[in-house]
Amino acid sequence: MTTQPTQPEKTDQNIVWHQHPVTQESREALHSHKGAILWFTGLSGSGKSTVAGALEQVLHSRGVSTYLLDGDNIRHGLCRDLGFSDADRKENIRRVGEVAKLMADAGLVVLTAFISPHRVERQMVRDMVQQGRFIEIFVDTPLAVCESRDPKGLYKKARAGELKNFTGIDSVYEAPLKPEIRLDGQKSLTEITANLLAALRQYNIIK
Ligand code: ADX
Repeated sequence: MTTQPTQPEKTDQNIVWHQHPVTQESREALHSHKGAILWFTGLSGSGKSTVAGALEQVLHSRGVSTYLLDGDNIRHGLCRDLGFSDADRKENIRRVGEVAKLMADAGLVVLTAFISPHRVERQMVRDMVQQGRFIEIFVDTPLAVCESRDPKGLYKKARAGELKNFTGIDSVYEAPLKPEIRLDGQKSLTEITANLLAALRQYNIIK
């Protein structure tokens, strides 16, 4: 297995991929587990960040090398120049996908928590890494429940017309058709985390 991307998008014929001696495999051997992307998707308020955070805590305590990329946090830095138009969301997910790919190449189990509302962009990230290294996790919480939680008061603003292009209100959310894992976002965090650990074992992400 090489660290070369599965589908390099060549923009310049004069830029050549350089294969370095330390490979993904050797880095993975150091971590004692493979690198992978656990891609959480779901509406705002569905519980993505909370669930991803809880899972990361458990994985970390078991000696798994992790990193959590969280939508709201990444929009404070790497993607601070992006808004919520379709084009900006696409660029948001492309950048996050590339970063997650590098981190998985470094041998980490990367957890990402982004609405990532479009199937095509989630597929784009899936295609960036080798098969078996992208686990799509759908945090399935009905819009009405997310709206009743409204932790940041954003649904209220969107309903009042003060916030445009809000996912689920006046911007689309395309639910995954065949996610590796579907979570009922209304179950307890303990139950969800236990289900996730069992599923990750099945997918050979952890032992
Ligand atoms: S994504 O669509 O590009 O994947 P991302 O996960 O980075 O979205 O950011 C979503 C977070 O930004 C939401 O949880 C919410 O707190 C905030 N937000 C602000 N404006 C919007 C909007 N118009 N639609 C969705 N989320 C928004």
